[in-house]
Amino acid sequence: MRCHLRRLLSAACLVCAAFAAAPLRAAELALMCTGVGQEMALCREAADDWAKRHGHTVRIVTAPNDASARLALVQQWLSAGSDQVDVLQVDVVWPGLLAAHLLDLRPHARGQEQQHFEGFVANNTIDGRLVAMPWFANAGLLFYRADLLKKHGRPVPATWAALTETAEAIQRAERAAGDDQLWGYVWQGRAYEGLTCNALEWVASHGGGTVVEADGRVSVRNPQAEAALRTAAGWVGRITPKAVLNYAEEESRLVFQSGRAVFMRNWPYAWALAQAEGSAIRGKVGVALLPRGEGAAGAAKARHAAALGGEALAVSKYSKHPALAAELVLHMTSAAAQKSRALRASFNPTRPALYADAEILQANPFMGELADTFRSAVPRPTAATGTRYNQVSHAFWNAAHDVLSGKAEAGAALRRLERGLARLRRGGTWK
Ligand code: GLC
Repeated sequence: MRCHLRRLLSAACLVCAAFAAAPLRAAELALMCTGVGQEMALCREAADDWAKRHGHTVRIVTAPNDASARLALVQQWLSAGSDQVDVLQVDVVWPGLLAAHLLDLRPHARGQEQQHFEGFVANNTIDGRLVAMPWFANAGLLFYRADLLKKHGRPVPATWAALTETAEAIQRAERAAGDDQLWGYVWQGRAYEGLTCNALEWVASHGGGTVVEADGRVSVRNPQAEAALRTAAGWVGRITPKAVLNYAEEESRLVFQSGRAVFMRNWPYAWALAQAEGSAIRGKVGVALLPRGEGAAGAAKARHAAALGGEALAVSKYSKHPALAAELVLHMTSAAAQKSRALRASFNPTRPALYADAEILQANPFMGELADTFRSAVPRPTAATGTRYNQVSHAFWNAAHDVLSGKAEAGAALRRLERGLARLRRGGTWK
């Protein structure tokens, strides 16, 4: 009898335990993930991990890899008030554009935002509302083939002129030796946000400013900016394939990773993939600062300049499960999740504490060695241009694309751009 009672009690306990573990109501959340590098796999895994633990399901909504195409889609969803997506990836340049459609995460965050770099939190705080939680940081980097530099007795170039010369010399020598597919330098030249990042790096590194300055002044028509664009246009067809005019991040990475380029400009994610088992360039790659400009008037202000990028996760205001969606965001941006992403896929954490983590620094030496690049990376002019940022960027990348493709001469393109930006800045103000 006693034994029977014990069995009954323990069965009852099992039932209690099952109820305690299960959520009151299982929900399905929709999470937007991109397919850049290992993004999709990591995004899905982290979401499934959370979903399993809490008895929910997460459906993945695939978003375009091209940041501008992604923004267009997100704007379309949000302006329609659609509940198609609960959690979305938000680029560092989007919070000001999307804030009205995003949930304030601060009441859900239990103070976690304080563990992230202040700059990212400030960037994601619009009118006092924390509209996105930092997920990973990006800064433009120069990837190079250490084996080829060594073979040809060349140092890592510190200036654009040295890069041009080195790329050309190695390309010529290797082609003469039979590697006729090798190019000197690949980057992102498609007419989209990625070109804004590349062109901002060229211009800022020549001491030519940041297109629009912090005080709202349009600065882009200047001799250094002109020299910067002219230099880049000079690469196309010479050390850079013409196809770069349609390359985003992944297209340039695939060329570099298959061993067909000496240098590449890209974000940190390219490191883990270049070093992965099965990569044609495993063990042959180095990472350095992007070169600085020189020579033009104003060269005193020339510097190494990396565009500041990065992504955050946000909850749509139209989500039917805002509290759960916020929990998913906290899980995906947690220290454990960021550490795993750094180790497996070289995504830079947004948590300063992780930069003291020996395993992360060992897997990604550049995160320690080039820490200054991240600290001093050049932000795009979102703070000055507010809700008009995307129009400003659009005008800038189009002008750059015209120069790169030979449709316009640098001076003329910048004059036209300046006029266009002045029109956008109606009444002398961007707001
Ligand atoms: C990366 C960066 C983002 C940038 C985009 C441009 O996704 O994180 O900030 O806008 O590249 O292609």
